[in-house]
Amino acid sequence: MFNFPNTRLRRRRSSKWIRNLTSESILSVNDLIFPLFVHNRKETTESIPGLPGMKCYSIDELVSVAQKAEDLGINAIAIFPVVDSKLKSKNAEEAYNQDNLICKAIYAVKLKVPGIGIIADVALDPYTTHGHDGLLKGDLIDVENDETVSVLCKQALALAKAGCNIVAPSDMMDGRIGKIRKTLDDNNFQDVLILSYAVKYCSSFYAPFRQIVGSCIPSNFIDKSSYQMDYRNARETICEIEMDINEGADLIMIKPGMPYLDIIKTASDKFNFPIFAYQVSGEYAMIKAATNNGWLNYDKVIYESLVGFKRAGASAIITYAALDVVKILMTQKT
Ligand code: PBG
Repeated sequence: MFNFPNTRLRRRRSSKWIRNLTSESILSVNDLIFPLFVHNRKETTESIPGLPGMKCYSIDELVSVAQKAEDLGINAIAIFPVVDSKLKSKNAEEAYNQDNLICKAIYAVKLKVPGIGIIADVALDPYTTHGHDGLLKGDLIDVENDETVSVLCKQALALAKAGCNIVAPSDMMDGRIGKIRKTLDDNNFQDVLILSYAVKYCSSFYAPFRQIVGSCIPSNFIDKSSYQMDYRNARETICEIEMDINEGADLIMIKPGMPYLDIIKTASDKFNFPIFAYQVSGEYAMIKAATNNGWLNYDKVIYESLVGFKRAGASAIITYAALDVVKILMTQKT
């Protein structure tokens, strides 16, 4: 069908203007979600191991950063709590304490920066002493599904009461979306959205995040393979997403991002539904490590990596580089 020399593909690449006219994917500030860590100390921790450039904020500082993000045009932030080890327990009771750190943080941001969307995880790992996303069955090391789901419902309700706009179950229990939707609706939170981490793989790319929230140190291994998906599989993506949409999810998340672009593509081709993707901590860490060594150019590589998500079909991307990328986008326009 296409034959040289009738077809010369380079003709369409010959100048910037024609490349721009024929470009298929666009990355804009509208696509970015900025993840932030909050702790209950007064001071801000300057650096986070494994996530160069990221900080762990006090609530006051978090509010200023949320304001800065909004000023830059970012539509939403995802807040993750770094919980004091004394408040962690086997059964994660702190997760649904209405006065816990994340609820206070959400409340403070909503009060001062009401225009920015707030996303918060529904999962027990920041609150359990063992670091799992759910409750353990007796002395066994497996996570109990249905009892976990009841606790997740209480956690989601506490987040909604604090003013959270989007609750994001990232726990991978079966049936939690329907139960959380019902709990929210029964309590007059029909307008709180559910972003389901429907497709969350059991990945080693979460290591820096786990170190920060204290669920596991990188040299240790925490096995979440009885609930997070097996990365050798693609087909169960369809089933996971279909079930969560049927149960009432508003938005679907795929995670991690870069090694899973095929999954993003499948999901966006198959479902007429917004697909979000998470460029997780280990992906950001790899890019930072290489760029801090001068081996890669940070601005160019981070931009290219995120355009890749868009090309695969993601509508929005959670990335630790969100603020950096807004600045890159601004300089591109001029
Ligand atoms: C908790 C959760 C994890 C991440 C987001 N929510 C870690 C995990 O499942 O162990 C990882 C995010 C990142 O690595 O940036 N359920």
